[in-house]
Amino acid sequence: MSLLAKRSIIKEDKSNIITLGAIAKEEKKKDPSVINATIGMYYSEDGKLVTYESVNKALEALTDDEKYAYASTPGSASYHEALKRWIFREYYDEFMEKTFISCMATPGGSGAISNTFSNYLNEGDEALLPSFMWGNYKQFAYENHASYRTYNLFKDGHLDLDDIKKNIYELKEKQGRVLLVINDPCQNPTGYTMTDSEWVSLVDIINEASADGTPFILLHDMAYIDYDYRGFKSTRNNLRLYEKLNKNVLVVLAFSGSKTLALYGIRIGAQVAISTNEENIKEFARANKFSSRAKWSNTTNLGANLISKVILDKEMRNAFENELEKARDILVKRALAFIEASKEVGLETLPFNCGFFITIPCKNPDEVYKRLVERKIHIIPLGNVLRVTISAITIEDCKRLPKIIKECM
Ligand SMILES: Cc1ncc(COP(=O)(O)O)c(C=O)c1O
Repeated sequence: MSLLAKRSIIKEDKSNIITLGAIAKEEKKKDPSVINATIGMYYSEDGKLVTYESVNKALEALTDDEKYAYASTPGSASYHEALKRWIFREYYDEFMEKTFISCMATPGGSGAISNTFSNYLNEGDEALLPSFMWGNYKQFAYENHASYRTYNLFKDGHLDLDDIKKNIYELKEKQGRVLLVINDPCQNPTGYTMTDSEWVSLVDIINEASADGTPFILLHDMAYIDYDYRGFKSTRNNLRLYEKLNKNVLVVLAFSGSKTLALYGIRIGAQVAISTNEENIKEFARANKFSSRAKWSNTTNLGANLISKVILDKEMRNAFENELEKARDILVKRALAFIEASKEVGLETLPFNCGFFITIPCKNPDEVYKRLVERKIHIIPLGNVLRVTISAITIEDCKRLPKIIKECM
């Protein structure tokens, strides 16, 4: 008989990303010609993990206290200020005036998603997730005593808003509340980025569905927001739509220090909650502080203070933005190279705009994975697709990979 509690007996981390990523890393250590397009981290054209110089400078400037002392559970006022400055940018004053906001430090975007699931879903409620998704969402749901259903991500190459709407109304009927997850821009795994008009329609759907007072939580996973080829200003424009959401709607932005500042292993991120109703924000702060204390107590002071320093110091921030823009430009070059080479050999990809990944529909991903490994190429087989991490490989690799993938299929 298992010693595990009933709910834990079926627990098994089925995500192969970390496992296959570790295999690829080992193979590459033995043979540098191996292509490792597995784990979602950003590597330079000479194969090194990208770290930002401005972030390293800020690290050197931290005192022992800033690095090693306990952080407060929600994070310091300066961390919250840095988050709001970074996320809202030129719309900062507008947001402060028109909405209520609360920030909660979390270990990465992961902690932000987990906290949100645990406080806004009743036992057995379903979160509404995209059909192609970062698989960890399912585990966050189970761990927080909830379940999930999926909306069809694409119809005719665009966001399937009809299916999102249909599922929202079904969930409203079934459980009297809705928690919708949107991962935008640079969706993982497809790289899809919603258009401005899709954002307008989505916010209209949310307002219509919640007009009768139904609690509505929009979890906006913005992990890759700073790698959108359209640049900082453009990615923040759509956030302004949140200023006109109903009072019974709460938006939780899941911010990832892993992706924006390449602080993957430091484990720092945040929930940034926005609502037009102050009461939602007060209860958000209360319940999520409780959950954080119960799950991880507090995040790394080092991570939060690093982010505060980089963002609140004008000079460091300018330098950091320049570095980030350069990283983004290289990512765009890789994407263009991959997409062009795919077209040349007739390799189909799912709708892609930008980001760390490109996804290829595939009937037998596990078999193709094995064939690719024989040719020293490591990608991630996922359900009925192959995910290629272009953030981890070079422009030259992006040029030659589509042909090899096509051959292996
Ligand atoms: C879509 C998406 N959201 C959130 C995360 C969370 O990352 P972290 O917890 O490292 O911030 C990831 C990481 O890969 C991701 O791909």
